[in-house]
Amino acid sequence: MGINAPVLLTFVTIICFASTSYTFQGTASFYKPPYVPSACNGYRDDGIFIAGASDALWNNGAACGKDYLVHCTGATNQAPQPCKSKAVRVRIVDYCPKGCSGTINLSEDAFSMIANLSAGVIKVDYAEYYKKWEN
Ligand SMILES: *[C@@H]1O[C@H](CO)[C@@H](O)[C@H](O)[C@H]1NC(C)=O
Ligand SMILES: *[C@@H]1O[C@H](CO)[C@@H](O)[C@H](O)[C@H]1NC(C)=O
Repeated sequence: MGINAPVLLTFVTIICFASTSYTFQGTASFYKPPYVPSACNGYRDDGIFIAGASDALWNNGAACGKDYLVHCTGATNQAPQPCKSKAVRVRIVDYCPKGCSGTINLSEDAFSMIANLSAGVIKVDYAEYYKKWEN
């Protein structure tokens, strides 16, 4: 299976982007299905790679529909290293109210792509993912 140039370029762009100041550090928690209703879209099915935004990201609902690339960077406690090497792309469709245990509250499906669910909460890097990168 070959990797074509545009795909490679996309990865390089993501890597460069992820190392700039547009990347933020925070924590990620997760929530379990059912994923609807959501604060952004009610009973619309937005798939499983979704997240709830805490007050740090929510911006009065302006966060709805934004995509983020989230990368696990470590444990928040003494638990064994929980990270998997992948990053996951999620869309903000929900609001995680005050007291939210993470900066970004991932769907269980998204969280399990990047970390061991037993960790509960993890440290992450996150950056907004722009659809124009796909052109
Ligand atoms: C997110 O996580 C919190 C726990 O911090 C939970 O109470 C909340 O209902 C979750 N859901 C969403 C959609 O953010
Ligand atoms: C996930 O973490 C738990 C608790 O630390 C550990 O027992 C388990 O083996 C881990 N699972 C994987 C697949 O690494």
